[in-house]
Amino acid sequence: MPVTEQQVIDALRTVKDPDLHKDLVTLRMVKDVKISGSNVSFTIDLTTPACPMKEKIEADSRDAVGGIEGVESIDITLTATVRPTQARGVQQIVMPGVKTVIAVASGKGGVGKSTVAANLACALARTGATVGLMDADIYGPSIPLIMGVEDAQIEVDEAKEQLIPVERYGVKVISMGFLQRASSAAVIWRGPMVSKAVQQFLRDVRWGEIDYLIVDLPPGTGDAQLTLSQAIPLTGAVIVMTPQDVAASVAVKAITMFRRLDVPILGIIENMSYFLCPTCNSRHDIFSHGGGRQASEALEVPFLGEIPLHGQIRAEADEGTPTVVISPDSLEAEAFTRVAEAVAQQVSIAVRRAPIDLQMVS
Ligand SMILES: Nc1ncnc2c1ncn2[C@@H]1O[C@H](COP(=O)(O)OP(=O)(O)O)[C@@H](O)[C@H]1O
Ligand SMILES: [Mg+2]
Repeated sequence: MPVTEQQVIDALRTVKDPDLHKDLVTLRMVKDVKISGSNVSFTIDLTTPACPMKEKIEADSRDAVGGIEGVESIDITLTATVRPTQARGVQQIVMPGVKTVIAVASGKGGVGKSTVAANLACALARTGATVGLMDADIYGPSIPLIMGVEDAQIEVDEAKEQLIPVERYGVKVISMGFLQRASSAAVIWRGPMVSKAVQQFLRDVRWGEIDYLIVDLPPGTGDAQLTLSQAIPLTGAVIVMTPQDVAASVAVKAITMFRRLDVPILGIIENMSYFLCPTCNSRHDIFSHGGGRQASEALEVPFLGEIPLHGQIRAEADEGTPTVVISPDSLEAEAFTRVAEAVAQQVSIAVRRAPIDLQMVS
């Protein structure tokens, strides 16, 4: 009996995506099933190139199809297509090519939010995703420094009246800093102005096709943060905190704000989590480490991982060369990459969940 396509599809119906809790066929991940004698080939189109479950999904598929009588060899091609956020219809209107938008937030300044945002963006870009980085920190736009684009002249498409993002390390960057520089007078940002500037940011930036748009929000949970979080159609928010207890209580504030706005919390990142000794590469817990994980358990949000406190991270950010770009093989870069994968994983889950939430409200 020759192997049939239906048998292959049925076998792949038994393979579940561990994060999305549905089988690969239902998730429309299976493409191009081809059978030639005893050889079966097919493509699995993952929801992110940064998928930490890649190997497991591939192995499970191989096992399932290998169980079909008559199958002797299996060729699996893995591709990835980031699925767009569906519940937030406004996104399609204001940012047509942007599939997902991730806010990076914190309850207070100085926790390393911008450093984390820049490294996340670069780490995702390195997996092959198309990435944008929007510096919406009106109080202290530091993305131009960290990404080494402080002197960049922002280009304007006069005909279409659009700003063209600056491309750096495979990431499309736009910063409030670029705009603030253009207006020389000291700007005091008040609610309506924030709102206006953000509207311009949203409508008038030529992003093109973007899988992940990372937004560095201003620290805190005041009016400006609220305005921004409402104006930007967010797929979800990532909260950056440091291990100290005080930081945990401010993280709670940020989470409460996003919950009120119905923005999914993708999870908590603990930055400056432990000290990574530059000479011996061994790990020292100098603060009461683990606050991020505890906070995430108490607040029932995912824990996305820990970034060590390391002089190189600061030095490399100050040089305009984020760690994952300049020292991709370091332990610090490894930590950022793991966190980026966890973020991508949660984005896939949030996108998948969004239409269900929508049905529940209607
Ligand atoms: N993991 C880290 N290890 C060492 N220094 C860090 C780390 N994360 C951030 N920093 C440094 O801490 C300072 C504040 O970081 P920044 O990203 O500007 O914070 P925020 O955006 O939250 O205000 C910067 O000097 C930055 O280089
Ligand atoms: Mg900052």
